[in-house]
Amino acid sequence: MPTVRDATQADCPSISRVLCACYHWFGDNDVLSPEIAAELVTQCGSVEYVRKLMSSVVTFVAEQDRLVVGTATVKENELNTLYVDPTCHRKGIGRMLFDEAAQAIAAGGFDEMFLGTGASTSIRFYEAMGMRRSGDKIVESGPCKGWTIAVYSKPLKRAT
Ligand SMILES: CC(C)(COP(=O)(O)OP(=O)(O)OC[C@H]1O[C@@H](n2cnc3c(N)ncnc32)[C@H](O)[C@@H]1OP(=O)(O)O)[C@@H](O)C(=O)NCCC(=O)NCCS
Repeated sequence: MPTVRDATQADCPSISRVLCACYHWFGDNDVLSPEIAAELVTQCGSVEYVRKLMSSVVTFVAEQDRLVVGTATVKENELNTLYVDPTCHRKGIGRMLFDEAAQAIAAGGFDEMFLGTGASTSIRFYEAMGMRRSGDKIVESGPCKGWTIAVYSKPLKRAT
């Protein structure tokens, strides 16, 4: 049974492994070109990148059999990243991470959460999580700089 917990710095190599596996999966499944996928691995997949990212976001990991198989990050009212190892898709792990992230956002006093995604394969998932498309935005940095991506939002019940 998978579990979700707060990440620690010791999880950085495992989170990096999950991110890189997903970026390769994007390239192998026509979500992104192999070239962009390879750039993501280089620019946004290293242990150093994860370490830096973790200093500015709240990070969760999902574990199964003591192995990190997924990760999510939250900044204020935004779900920044949500990645599940491709060998573990459709086992409810994404939902567990999403629920934890939504709870953290609500606990921060927000009554709505947002995310931006360019990954067409994740849209059915986000819709299943109750998110609805609310607009578009331009990616400001990284390998996908300049791309228009979809923004999704979901009202939240405030934490009591
Ligand atoms: C999107 C992602 C996080 C979903 O994680 P997951 O653990 O596979 O999702 P879950 O098993 O929790 O799915 C929950 C529900 O979402 C929906 N869903 C998930 N993946 C789906 C898919 N590929 N097609 C249609 N519906 C899907 C289903 O309703 C599913 O419930 P069900 O399995 O009982 O039918 C995962 O596929 C992933 O990491 N993809 C690569 C990275 C990515 O695209 N991240 C988002 C970047 S913004």
